[in-house]
Amino acid sequence: MLQPYRKIVIQKLTGEFRSSTGIVNTPAASPGPGEVLIRNRYAGVNAIFDQNLCRNTIRYVDVVPPYDMGVEAIGEVVAIGERVDGFRVGDAVANVKLGGGYREYQIASVGRLVRVREASPEILSLIASGVSAMVALERIADMKSGETIAVSAAAGGLGQFVVQLAKRAGNHVIALTSSDEKAGVLRELGADRVVNYRTESLTEVLAREYPRGLDIAYDSVGGPIFDAFLDHLAMYGRLIVSGHTSDFDKPVEDVPHPRAYHKLYWKSASIRAFQNPAFPQYFDDAARRILDLYYRGELRALVDPTPFVGLESAADAVEYLLAGRNAGKVVLKL
Ligand SMILES: NC(=O)c1ccc[n+]([C@@H]2O[C@H](COP(=O)([O-])OP(=O)(O)OC[C@H]3O[C@@H](n4cnc5c(N)ncnc54)[C@H](OP(=O)(O)O)[C@@H]3O)[C@@H](O)[C@H]2O)c1
Repeated sequence: MLQPYRKIVIQKLTGEFRSSTGIVNTPAASPGPGEVLIRNRYAGVNAIFDQNLCRNTIRYVDVVPPYDMGVEAIGEVVAIGERVDGFRVGDAVANVKLGGGYREYQIASVGRLVRVREASPEILSLIASGVSAMVALERIADMKSGETIAVSAAAGGLGQFVVQLAKRAGNHVIALTSSDEKAGVLRELGADRVVNYRTESLTEVLAREYPRGLDIAYDSVGGPIFDAFLDHLAMYGRLIVSGHTSDFDKPVEDVPHPRAYHKLYWKSASIRAFQNPAFPQYFDDAARRILDLYYRGELRALVDPTPFVGLESAADAVEYLLAGRNAGKVVLKL
């Protein structure tokens, strides 16, 4: 007999995580055909996505409470449904599914599961953020080698993989961060030039040290960083919009700038947006290759050392990330 378990749901849309959500008990169900039951061990914290769900501002979702929270999780298979081949009880697996993260157990279709060596937070960070970084760089940014690549929030969950993958491909990497502590982490990851944007002017650094411009500018922060990237693209440069952490919950700002084509046309440069759910066709290949790099010891996966334990800590983890305090991926231990 399966015991009830706990999960986090949005109970009302207040606009922020802590007051919108609650922990509820839910009856455990048996996995159906083609499904397994997973005991989640770690969930990835996607604070901006979570907060946007609590504001009902994710364009491809309509949140009607009660609404299950969390996305990626890693754990072990504890029960197997009919017509499931190739999975056994005890297998470590990761899953990326809306509503599959902030809960103690989940039922998942085996077609979407990634089998992994162990249910660790490092491997979880690869499956979510690492895969996104790889797909965005290779498929959206058309990364080559010998290029100059700048990345914002470089010490974050996603940014750490952009830095490492860009270096592995033989590029010069400029990594942006807000603290000297995170700057040290970025040097260890191999960044060629670290810019602490609180103590140095990004615009001045780019104008003075990179007059040829940026071949790829990978931005998930937005605001003045986006503006500086757009102003300093090289010939054929690609500016990747991968998020806008700095103003995602603020009213849209009207900025008095020349129209973007004045900055792009003569350089044949482009702005390209990347949203991982829009590119499911690349997921399996990227997951396989990024795990392979990690297993071979050629890629590091940084998990923020601050412990967040249990569903009760989810709001603290979300607020910690929203305050920009993290270095590496923020995870919730379940
Ligand atoms: N496109 C996609 O498919 C996709 C997938 C996953 C995540 N994302 C987006 O990518 C971004 C990064 O997500 P993540 O979960 O990996 O987070 P994260 O980068 O680990 O954390 C956010 C980081 O942003 C930086 N930051 C700059 N301005 C900030 C501000 N005003 N408030 C808070 N932080 C600020 C901070 O780093 P510094 O202090 O070093 O600047 C902070 O550590 C988010 O915008 C997220 O929505 C997009």
